[in-house]
Amino acid sequence: MPGDRLSDPERTRSRLRADLDRARSRTSTLTSAVCDAELTRQHSPLMSPLVWDLAHIGNQEELWLLRRLADRPALLAPGIDELYDAFRHPRADRPTLPLLDPTESRRYIAQVRDRVSDLLEATPLDGPERLLDQGFAFAMIAQHEQQHVETMLATHQLRVGPAVLSAPDAPHRPVPALPTEVLIPAGEFEMGTDLDPWALDNERPAHRVQVPAFCIDTTPVSNAAYARFIAAGGYTDPRWWHPDGWAHVQSAGLVAPQFWSPDGAGGWAVLRFGELLPVHPDEPVQHVCWYEADAYAHWCGRRLPTEVEWEKAARHDPITGRSRRYPWGEDDPGPQHANLGGRHLGPAGVGAYEQGASAFGVQQMIGDVWEWTSSDFRGYPGFTPFPYREYSEVFFGREFKVLRGGSWAVDPVACRGTFRNWDYPIRRHIFAGLRTARDAGREEAAG
Ligand code: AVJ
Ligand code: FE
Repeated sequence: MPGDRLSDPERTRSRLRADLDRARSRTSTLTSAVCDAELTRQHSPLMSPLVWDLAHIGNQEELWLLRRLADRPALLAPGIDELYDAFRHPRADRPTLPLLDPTESRRYIAQVRDRVSDLLEATPLDGPERLLDQGFAFAMIAQHEQQHVETMLATHQLRVGPAVLSAPDAPHRPVPALPTEVLIPAGEFEMGTDLDPWALDNERPAHRVQVPAFCIDTTPVSNAAYARFIAAGGYTDPRWWHPDGWAHVQSAGLVAPQFWSPDGAGGWAVLRFGELLPVHPDEPVQHVCWYEADAYAHWCGRRLPTEVEWEKAARHDPITGRSRRYPWGEDDPGPQHANLGGRHLGPAGVGAYEQGASAFGVQQMIGDVWEWTSSDFRGYPGFTPFPYREYSEVFFGREFKVLRGGSWAVDPVACRGTFRNWDYPIRRHIFAGLRTARDAGREEAAG
């Protein structure tokens, strides 16, 4: 649990209450911002109708907390579980299913939450059962809802129509004179976690990894830097691209990040939640796919970091030899550390969170944009699925690339230095960007 790993069950309980409430309030905002017709419509074949996410959130909560933990009877007619099982129906088919309508969906999730709130008060959170240990199942459900909040934000971003969401602008500070990269010396570090009670199965177990010396960017790649790649003809030169990426760029006709368009004056505009804005030069680039991230890094004469490198740069403390929960230490994320929780509807300027820097001085590893790594999504040595194979294990293999760090949309409950996300290398509707890395030269590595 954030902050204190030695836990008092009453603190755990009040924390879970707050985490579940915060998730529900974000769900309500996103699903009340548009009319019922827009909730049931599909805004992109990549996404579910928002009303599917809405009832799916409640259905997962009912399945895990009310039925599995508390052995309660189903609230609705049989057949509901199947409709909201992500593995039964691909997203593209979901609008044709006999889904609950918006009113029924809202009633359903409210009924579930009422009962869950009572259950949370009545359930011992320090028992021997692993699902309940330190409130794990409740925390898993809060994380699940927040992951769907991020998915629903991606749906909102794909939706066509006047803006319905608003938030204060993210901070932009004059970039202090930062070195562009830092050296992470060769050595072992501890990857993953055994201690974090709310970590999901794919973050476990902790294991030691030997990492050769490498250099990594101190900030995510900015729009200005990425625009130079475009202006230099990056999208028309196969030298920079993975062969599958080159084929994809051509067949999909990619010329710039998703949602960018020429501004008519030689620059770029970006469509963000229904508003056309100038592309901010200092913001981390987002809405690039893995192939674009990989090509950009090669154009720079660099490469994407491996997942291991990313986590070492974020978590390793060379003084204590231990791995931190967050880049800045053990403290829960605050607005001084990172741009999280949808407080702003986009990334902050690079260099905006000096207090969020890692022990090595690497900034903005948490929040702002998910960062593509070069790594395939796999289980750590000794991985065991918990509590269900379909959360992580069925996605292990060569099809998915790992993203780390979390975007501006991620809630703190679903965010830590060990948290892992994954997606197909062609996906760019997610809030993803990158930072680059390189092997250290022999002399650098020798110090
Ligand atoms: C971890 C973001 C890839 O959205 O597919 C939601 C999270 N798992 N419901 C996804 C998830 C089950 C998952 N990602
Ligand atoms: Fe889900």
